[in-house]
Amino acid sequence: MKKWTSTRIQACKGKQRIACLTAYDYATARLMDAADIPLVLVGDSLGMTVLGYETTLPVTMEDMLHHSAAVVRGVNNALVVADMPFMSYQISIQQALQNAGRFLKEAGADAVKIEGGHLRLETVKALVGNGIPVMGHIGLTPQSVRQFGGYKVQGKHPAAAKTLIEDAIGLVDAGVFTLVLECVPRALAAEITKTIAVPTIGIGAGPECDGQILVSHDMLGMYSDVSPSFVKQYAKLGPLMQQAFESYRDEVTQGTFPTAEHSF
Ligand code: KIV
Repeated sequence: MKKWTSTRIQACKGKQRIACLTAYDYATARLMDAADIPLVLVGDSLGMTVLGYETTLPVTMEDMLHHSAAVVRGVNNALVVADMPFMSYQISIQQALQNAGRFLKEAGADAVKIEGGHLRLETVKALVGNGIPVMGHIGLTPQSVRQFGGYKVQGKHPAAAKTLIEDAIGLVDAGVFTLVLECVPRALAAEITKTIAVPTIGIGAGPECDGQILVSHDMLGMYSDVSPSFVKQYAKLGPLMQQAFESYRDEVTQGTFPTAEHSF
């Protein structure tokens, strides 16, 4: 298997659909890499799935560096994209460059992701201009949940749809190698996909996107706090894990584990 790079991902446009997943730890990243998943995102969704926060807002640079480095250690071929957490890139271009640089230098990530449209164009140009590949993210951008008033589909009204199309074009001109479209109407995602020259990666954005991404805890059935309707569960690991914990508890309590076989 050959290493996935940002240019290789970009070249998939119109040729090969791209299956992306989030990972937050070494063991899961290894399994995804063995499954030939081309792009692994260390999403700030880890704030909810791994750290138990209600939103992604409390996630810090140190949290993201720690988990990104673990994922990088588990991967040989997948492209590892580190999600820049809330307020790690919004304050100034200098701040964005410094923090994005840490993901490549300290965690060994291949690229970063930032949320937002027209407000981010200068930041994207500066990052890409300094050798840092950037994945864009528009639509329902969870770091703006307080402004949106909840996790709601974006771009339903014509003016909002027009803004998202302009944002997508602007981000591509600024240099993103791929663009996440989260929770936008299918027809709008299809139009953006047709319009721009880099792959769109959908999550709750319909089948016409060039690729898809899911939060691994959602698709594995491990995270039951919220279950968005666009998620397909490919396994139900939550109940399976709980069953294993209960069996273990019973065997330890009853004295049937460990046996001679597990003893020195
Ligand atoms: O943080 C995350 O997991 C994400 C994906 C849902 C795109 O941003």
